[in-house]
Amino acid sequence: MLTKEQNDRLARVGPGTPGGELLRRYWVPFLPSAKLDEDPVQPVRLLGEDLTCYRDKSGGVGLIGRHCLHRAVDLRWGIPDENGLRCPYHGWLYNETGTCVEAPMEARPDMHKDRLKLPAYPVEEMGGLLFAYMGPQPAPLLPPWDLFVWPNAVRQMGVVKLNANWLQCQENTGDPTHGVWLHGFLFKYVLEKMGDQDRLARMTKTFMQQGVGIKDLYVHATEYGMEKGVIFSKELGAPEDKKSRHSTVIFPFYTEQNAAGAPWSEFQIRVPIDDEHTYHISYNCYAAPPGVEAPTQEKVPYYEVPLFEETGRLDEEGKPIRKPILDCILNQDFIGWWSQGPLTDRTAENLGRTDIPVVFLRRQLDEQIRVVEDGGDPMNVFRDPGEMGDILYGGGVPAEAWLDPDWAKTRPELVRNTRTQYHKGGAVWESDRYGPAIPLVGELHRRMEEAVQTAAS
Ligand code: FES
Ligand SMILES: [Fe+2]
Repeated sequence: MLTKEQNDRLARVGPGTPGGELLRRYWVPFLPSAKLDEDPVQPVRLLGEDLTCYRDKSGGVGLIGRHCLHRAVDLRWGIPDENGLRCPYHGWLYNETGTCVEAPMEARPDMHKDRLKLPAYPVEEMGGLLFAYMGPQPAPLLPPWDLFVWPNAVRQMGVVKLNANWLQCQENTGDPTHGVWLHGFLFKYVLEKMGDQDRLARMTKTFMQQGVGIKDLYVHATEYGMEKGVIFSKELGAPEDKKSRHSTVIFPFYTEQNAAGAPWSEFQIRVPIDDEHTYHISYNCYAAPPGVEAPTQEKVPYYEVPLFEETGRLDEEGKPIRKPILDCILNQDFIGWWSQGPLTDRTAENLGRTDIPVVFLRRQLDEQIRVVEDGGDPMNVFRDPGEMGDILYGGGVPAEAWLDPDWAKTRPELVRNTRTQYHKGGAVWESDRYGPAIPLVGELHRRMEEAVQTAAS
């Protein structure tokens, strides 16, 4: 349980708030670059600020304030110029520093040049995503987190706006036992209600079994975030004594599932739009193992993850009744986040032993806010290229099982996992099933199976 003041300190993201100042020390991914191919001017709301992202005719990308300094017209309707964006109303031109460099209808078109400036933030691109830095200069380096830069892979990203503060999404990552119910018993209940006998028959008991024999939970800080998991005991009914690690936390807003090099891996990125909304990016990297070539992609595609489906029924007011999509894993997580309300009231919660890592995550966030308040750089802010290298592994290492050049001979069983069977309908459990790259991933998994057959012959 937190006090209201503590809750606000951790969760709010606007300029000048403790949490907002911390988040402004990071490069924040905010838009698939493929969106600018569809329309070179895009409205953006990020960390409580209304902005406009544009790509101009020379290919430069800018992120500037939303409303024109003349008479406040919304620049999302602006016109890309050779170098900058023009307001549609009277043609004032802004460059990527937010400076009004031309007011064409005025007697002296450059009259505002040293006078009027919109907020403007630097933008960089990596792995098909645009990142903004909204903090004090000098900006730190853009960290090459592994899934964005790993070679020989298929990629795609699913985006969705959630009516929930970013921290309740991120707290899911500090919660290693929710899968038993949310991805186990709830999944089964949903499939039963749908009458989906096919998937019920194929459903493994893994998630549900993870509720048996829990002795304790563990959590500790890592170089880039925290590690947490469950300690199982045979004495208490688990199949064996075992320490089971849960997904990786990269501070402040990333979760990494699996690691670079695996044929299925994912960043779940909780991008704070404002205090009550999150732009969630599920960024998938499907890597080809040694000896297999991944199908090529011209760019990283994106898709909107659907949250609801129509029921075909109407409510009392005659409006269509929609229900949440719950028959895939990430969508199950989504309901766990947004149904807590836009900014959950942590003064009313009742925590138990399964929340130990959640408490740790909040403490870590509070500590890093304090680092910023004391004038320092918080964790994962890099200024020295030597400190980062060309790739940063969120969990410290790549997916080692997949790095063996002889994997097809020594570990053929690796291709028999659901997540290596997208060519055989394996993409029915995860929300990435909605993505445009699924046929390419299927082709990758087919090539992997072929590699195993060749190695065996
Ligand atoms: S309102 Fe933008 S140029 Fe006039
Ligand atoms: Fe989950």
